Amino acid sequence: LKSRLIVDRDFVLAPLDRRIFGVFVEHMGRCVYSGVYEPDHREADEKGFRRDVLALTRELGPTIGRYPGGNFLSGYNWEDGVGPKDRRPVRRDLAWGATETNQFGTNEFIDWCRVAGLEPMFAVNLGTRGPDEARNFLEYCNHPRGTYWSELRRSHGYEEPHDVKFWCLGNEMDGPWQICAKTAREYGRIAQETAKVMRLGCDSLQLAVCGSSYRDMPTYRAWEYEVLDLCFEHVDFISLHQYFRNDENDIEKFLTAIDDLDCFITEVAAIADAIAAKRRSPKRIMLSLDEWNVWYKAHGGKHLRKPGWPLAPRLLEEVYNVEDALVVGGALITLMNNADRVKVACLAQLVNVIGPIMTEPGGPAWRQTIFHPFALSSRFARGEVMRAKIETGRFAAGKYDAAPLLVSSVLHDPESGRVAVFALNRSLDAEMALKAELRGFGPRRLEEAFELHHDDLKAANTREAPNTVAPKPHQSATIDGEILSARLKPLSWNVFVTR
Ligand code: AHR
Repeated sequence: LKSRLIVDRDFVLAPLDRRIFGVFVEHMGRCVYSGVYEPDHREADEKGFRRDVLALTRELGPTIGRYPGGNFLSGYNWEDGVGPKDRRPVRRDLAWGATETNQFGTNEFIDWCRVAGLEPMFAVNLGTRGPDEARNFLEYCNHPRGTYWSELRRSHGYEEPHDVKFWCLGNEMDGPWQICAKTAREYGRIAQETAKVMRLGCDSLQLAVCGSSYRDMPTYRAWEYEVLDLCFEHVDFISLHQYFRNDENDIEKFLTAIDDLDCFITEVAAIADAIAAKRRSPKRIMLSLDEWNVWYKAHGGKHLRKPGWPLAPRLLEEVYNVEDALVVGGALITLMNNADRVKVACLAQLVNVIGPIMTEPGGPAWRQTIFHPFALSSRFARGEVMRAKIETGRFAAGKYDAAPLLVSSVLHDPESGRVAVFALNRSLDAEMALKAELRGFGPRRLEEAFELHHDDLKAANTREAPNTVAPKPHQSATIDGEILSARLKPLSWNVFVTR
């Protein structure tokens, strides 16, 4: 099987917004409690943050972190999570049937982001609450001083504003499972007024309205159209959420989840542009895929809720295997190749709950399989995404008669001169001879190359064997002038970094 990839230095798709390497931290299960925060753990720092999780987070390399939910958001009072910890109320979390102690809240998340090295991305509750809460929360976070809410923040020990730039207007408000779900018109109006209130005096905020909870929602498309028709002037982004499933245990079909994602992005951009066309407006609404991942094994019933209002129950503790890592790696390539429209994306979630990092309470932390393509992509995908011509074989699976076997993205970083080639071989059984012509970049040398492959597609990393699935240095890559050649194993995800 031969594949040819051609890029030319002059043909740039778009600069990559590195916020596509975001993650999501929700008050759910053990993402916060015994995930990022566990004061009694031997690795805890003076603020109660697990140092082992911080180290793995830095290695993962997320750029932005969405907080505090998720479905949790739609019943959350942000005021419960600020101020002296011994006075914070303990409440029922109705979204996940848990007890929420509020020992971790807004300021702890900001502190954690600063130590972990990522930008915070907040969401306002448009379920049980609305514009009034949003304006107060924004004032608490971002106003320098001299007002009720900014002085309250200062009295809590945070003299300087948090300066949070990116805000989500609610979460999955189209979903019947959502606390105070809304019709498109109901949500569009409340999002419109909330955005207006938040923008007053804060022009530089970036605001995202909720799109559909997933592409198969019955209201998908009509929802986007109506919400954007109401909010177009007031927002910058529309969100997309998508979780990939392999219920039929059909790897070929599962791998076309990447093509589904590509279609989803194209469709939502088209709807946004239809609203722009209706107004004859040059404005372009950008896309925020602010929840995405593989999620289907730890789904439903006991994975979503446990009886008795427990503290930090084990919810959605999906164990990822090799197939899942290939899909995550492929989805990252798709996101890069949509760099002109997708400016933000958050892998959901960060720890324990459908997370690339797993922990045991009081015990170790380790990398799941999906950790690896994310970490390598965040490390090497910098600069501009190139337009690529790809000649490759095809396969039929899922909804597709002729899906390309090679899925690839090429990035050029003008600052460092590096060109990185990301390549997924979707063939089940054929090794792929890849020839990448990196035209106009001058003679190259290979700096680094990695391969993610395992003969057992169901292999996973566990507490006992945390390094079963890990990238290995690529053995077969060579460079001749501007031409990179490599042999890609069947069902492998690869990255080649040249300079
Ligand atoms: O990430 C888990 C849940 O999935 C989130 O709370 C919700 O927004 C989505 O349905």
